[in-house]
Amino acid sequence: MSAISLYARPSPDFAQKLAHSLALLKTAAAKYSPLTQASSLGAEDMVITHLMHEAGLFDKPGVSIFVLDTGMLHAETVALVKRIEERYPVTVDVYHPDADATSAFVEENGPQAMYKSLALRKQCCHIRKMAPLDRALAGKKGWLTGLRREQSAARAEVHDIEQQPERTKVNPLVEWTQGDIWHCISANALPYNPMHDQFFPSIGCAPCTRAVTLGEDFRSGRWWWENESAKECGLHVAADGTHEAQEPAAFEPLSSIIPIREIPA
Ligand code: ADX
Ligand code: SF4
Repeated sequence: MSAISLYARPSPDFAQKLAHSLALLKTAAAKYSPLTQASSLGAEDMVITHLMHEAGLFDKPGVSIFVLDTGMLHAETVALVKRIEERYPVTVDVYHPDADATSAFVEENGPQAMYKSLALRKQCCHIRKMAPLDRALAGKKGWLTGLRREQSAARAEVHDIEQQPERTKVNPLVEWTQGDIWHCISANALPYNPMHDQFFPSIGCAPCTRAVTLGEDFRSGRWWWENESAKECGLHVAADGTHEAQEPAAFEPLSSIIPIREIPA
C-alpha cells in the first residue's frame, strides 16, 4: 500500500497553510540569507525543497540545501540527492563525518555501539551528525528544517521562526499534518523515498530506523529501543532532552512579497 494512498488527506485549511509556508520561505530568504535547508531527504524535506522552488528561492544567491550523509543512510535515501538535482536548479551540498573519528569510534565500541547505551548512541550521533552540522551551518544566517508539531511531544511547541544564538531557525511546516505532507507530494508528483511505501514513515540512519505497523506512532520506528523522551539525535533538542527553542520571533511578512502562486491540487 503506497504512502500516498495511506496518508494523503489535506486539512480543510490546507490552502492557507500552503500560502503561509510560501510567504515564510520568501521572508526567510530576504531576512536570513545566507539561508540553507537541512534536508534529511524525508517526506517533509522533499516538500520544503519543492516549496523553495515554487517560492523562487533557487533564483536567489545565498540559498542552498545540505544533507548530512552519516555514512549509515539507506541507498534509497542517498539516491534522492540526484533526483533533487535533476528536478530543481540546485546542487545539494553533502557533508560527511570525519573518517578518522568514525573509524576510531567503531574500533573502540564496535559497529553496534548505538544499541549498547544511550551515551554511546549519542556519541555516534555527535560524530556522524552534530559535528558535520556545525560545518554545514558555519557562516549561515538562517536554516530551514522540516519539523512539525504533530511529530512528537518534544516537538509540540516548535515555532515557525526560532531565534538561536548564532542564527535563525525557520520551520515552514510546523502546522502541517502528515496528511498535508502526502497530499502535497501526491498533487505535485514529488520524488520521495520508496521506503515510505514500506511502512517507514520517518527515516534516519539504517541501524536506527525500522518499519512501523499500522496504528503505531509516526516516529516509533526511530531508536525504537529507547524511551520516548530520549528519541532525538541532538539536531533539535538540548542535551537534557527538552526542546531547544529560544523565544519565538515575530513573523512579519515582507511588504515586497509577490502574490502567492498556489500549487495546483
Ligand atoms: S532527527 O533529529 O530525528 O533525525 P528528523 O529525521 O525527524 O530528525 O528530521 C527533522 C529535521 O531535521 C529534518 O526535516 C531536517 O530538517 C533535519 N535533518 C534530520 N536529519 C538530517 C540529515 N541527515 N541531514 C540534514 N538535515 C537533517
Ligand atoms: Fe549513529 Fe544511529 Fe545516530 Fe545515525 S542515528 S548517527 S547510526 S546512532
